[in-house]
Parts: sequence; structure tokens; C-alpha cells
Amino acid sequence: MAENETAPYAAPTPSRYRTVHLQQAKDEGRRFAMLTTYDFQMAQVFDEAGVEVLLVGDSAANTMMGLPTTLPITLEQLAVYAGSVVRGARRAMVLCDMPFGSYELSPQQAAENAIRLVKETGVHGVKIEGGVRYAEHIALMTDAGVPVMAHTGFTPQSENVLGGYRVQGRGEGAAEAMIREATTLQDAGAFALLMEMVPGDVARRVDEALRIPTVGIGAGPGTTGQVLVWQDMLGLRSGRMPRFVKQYADLRSVVTGAVQDYRREVLEGTFPAPEHGFGA
Ligand code: KIV
Repeated sequence: MAENETAPYAAPTPSRYRTVHLQQAKDEGRRFAMLTTYDFQMAQVFDEAGVEVLLVGDSAANTMMGLPTTLPITLEQLAVYAGSVVRGARRAMVLCDMPFGSYELSPQQAAENAIRLVKETGVHGVKIEGGVRYAEHIALMTDAGVPVMAHTGFTPQSENVLGGYRVQGRGEGAAEAMIREATTLQDAGAFALLMEMVPGDVARRVDEALRIPTVGIGAGPGTTGQVLVWQDMLGLRSGRMPRFVKQYADLRSVVTGAVQDYRREVLEGTFPAPEHGFGA
């Protein structure tokens, strides 16, 4: 395989994934992978594994800070994670969530904070939760030079309004309503649309109706790309896993076993061994 190719089902790897490459994937009937990332070293690992898009999700509030919801994380806190990911990503496109409270009040507020994220962290674009109410925000952010991924379906920042974690887009007329909303966001300038916890046939119909690529989480296989939270898919998270997660590894057991071995050897006095020390 040539050095700049990853696999037969993927296009040649560009020096940096950009919105144009995600659009090409959609146009050519290919898919791409997106994974949440919050730190430098995991960014390096995921980038080297070929993941096209790294998302500095506001889920950092849960996964990195142990908070029960995504609502409290601030722009400043997310910016620290975002800068770390950018420094670890050689080829992947890095997107950062607009956290709760950083964009809702006006298109100006959204554009100012999106520009801040790009300037201060080097991310290549942002993701914003919400529907048609944010079309003007998306238009201004895009005009200002910040690529925007829109996020619809279940939007965790609105969990208090939506009544908790619930599948969205069910029932009579729901698919048509979601297509209308998605088309408005596309026309406002969003370069991609993420759908969370949406019935698979609805998400597929939205993807088919749109020109821009879509990304799904709990939205079936009919979207252009897929995204998962990395601690979920690699099995670091404890407790009940959402139905839409596939666990590709059991890092919690691997890490626990290794740390138990380390502790036992420290207590026994078998670590450090002579080869881990320095001579006189
Ligand atoms: O913050 C996040 O992790 C997300 C994903 C669930 C898409 O927005």
C-alpha cells in the first residue's frame, strides 16, 4: 500500500483533513470516522490510527472532569483541552464544541467565541448544538471564517428542556421536520450536520436529503460519518453503556491489571529491578 493511503475503502490521506475532504467523502459515497479527544497523547494515537476528525466535545465535562452534565464546562476549560488536541493532531481535522453559555444569546456572541476558540487553540472548526434558531449564528460564524458543524437530534446541553436523554425524531411527520431543520442549517452555511439519538431510517433520510455530510451517534449506519466518545468505545468508562456504543476494547481491565501488577511489585520490592536504576 502506498505511504499516503490508509485502506482500500478510504481516499488517499491528505496532509490535513479539511471540510472539503469530508464533502468529497459524501460526494463519492465514502464514510469517515470521528472520535472525541481531549488530550495531546490520545490525539496522537487517534491521528496515527487514521481517524479523520477529532472532536473536543463538551463531554469533557463528564469524561475528564467527572461532572454529571455538560452544562458547567466553560469556554476557557474547553480551550485547554482543545489546544492539547491540536498539538497532537498531525493530519486530523480538530473541531471544538461551543460550550453551553458561549453562543445562545446572539449571532455576535457565537461568532466572537468561535473566533476566540480558533485564535487561542488552533482548532479548525466548531460544533454548535441546536436547530433553526441558530441559523443566523451559523451564518455569521461561517462568514467570519469558522467552519461550523451543526448538532441536532438529542442535544445534551438542552437535556433540561428535552426531559432527559431521549431519542428525538420519532413519530408522525418527525422525519420531514428534521429534514426541514437540517436543510435550514445547511443553507445557513453549516459544513456538516451531526445527529444524536435519532431513528436510523430518519437519519438516513436526512443524509439523503442533504448536500453536506452527516455524522451520527446513535443514528444508525445511514450517515456519512460516525462519532463515539473514546472512553466508551475503548471501555474505560464504568457503569452502564449507552445502547448505541460498541466497545472495541476493555481498557479499564487492562489498566487495572497493569496498575495492580505495579503496586504488587512495589510492595514486594521486585520493582525497581537493577535494570531500572543507575550505576554509581
Ligand atoms: O461532546 C460530545 O462528546 C459530543 C458527542 C456526543 C457528539 O457532542
